[in-house]
Amino acid sequence: MAQPRILILGAPGAGKGTQSAKIVEHFDVEHITTGDALRSNKQMDISHLDLEYDTPAEYMDQGELVPDEVVNAIVDEALSSADGFILDGYPRNLEQVEALEDMTDLDVVLTLDVSEEELVHRLTGRRMDPETGDIYHVEYNPPEDPEVEERLEEREDDTEETVRERLRVYQKNTAPVIEYYEDEGSLERVDGEQAPDEVWDDVKATIEENA
Ligand code: AP5
Repeated sequence: MAQPRILILGAPGAGKGTQSAKIVEHFDVEHITTGDALRSNKQMDISHLDLEYDTPAEYMDQGELVPDEVVNAIVDEALSSADGFILDGYPRNLEQVEALEDMTDLDVVLTLDVSEEELVHRLTGRRMDPETGDIYHVEYNPPEDPEVEERLEEREDDTEETVRERLRVYQKNTAPVIEYYEDEGSLERVDGEQAPDEVWDDVKATIEENA
C-alpha cells in the first residue's frame, strides 16, 4: 500500500489528536495538525495581513478560528513535503475545503462522532506533558509516573467557557464540512465515544478498507 493520505474530522475533543498519534505510528505517515502548528507560532506577527488581530493567539484564546490565509499557507507548506499524511484540524470551513482541493487529493476521509456533553468533559479534563507532547485525561487516562503527573499542563483554551465557544464555532463552520464530504460520498463515520483502543480498531479498519 502506498502511504495513505488521510483526513480526520470531528469536534474539539473528539479524539483527533489521540487517534492521529496511533495512525502516524502504524501507517508511517506525517502528522499535519494546524492546532499544534498554530500553538507553536501563537505570537507570530500577522499584522501585515491587516486582519482583526495581530497574532494567532488572540483568535485561539477566545476559541475563534484563525483567518484562512494564515492557516492555508501553513497546510500548503506542510503538504508540499509529505507523501502520506494524517491531516488533523483542517479544513474547518468550506473555504478551507476549496483551498485543500487545490493542494492535494485524499484517500480516506473519516469523522469521529461524539456527543457534546462528552466533548466538554474530555476537554476540561485534558492535560498535556510539555516535555513529550503526550495527551492525558485526569480521569480516563492519567499518567502512571508521578513525575509526569506533576508537570502536566492544561491547554489555555480548555476552560469550560472557551470550550463552549469552540463547540459553537464548530457547529457553525465545521459541521458543514462534514456534510460536504458526506454529500460527496467519501465520508466514513467512526463511533468516537468508545474507549480509545476500540476507536482505534475501527479507525485502523476504516483506513485499511479505503486507502
Ligand atoms: P485544535 O488544536 O485543532 O483543537 P480542536 O479541533 O479543538 O481539537 P482538540 O485538539 O481540542 O481535540 P482532539 O479532537 O484532538 O481531542 P484529543 O485527542 O486531544 O485547534 C485549536 C485552535 O486552533 C482552534 O480553536 C482555532 O483557533 C485554531 N485552529 C486550528 N486549526 C484551524 C483551522 N484549520 N482554521 C482556523 N483556525 C484553526 O482528546 C481530548 C481529550 O479526550 C484528551 O484528554 C484525551 O485523553 C481524551 N480522549 C481522547 N479519546 C478518548 C476516548 N475515546 N475516550 C475517552 N477519552 C478520550
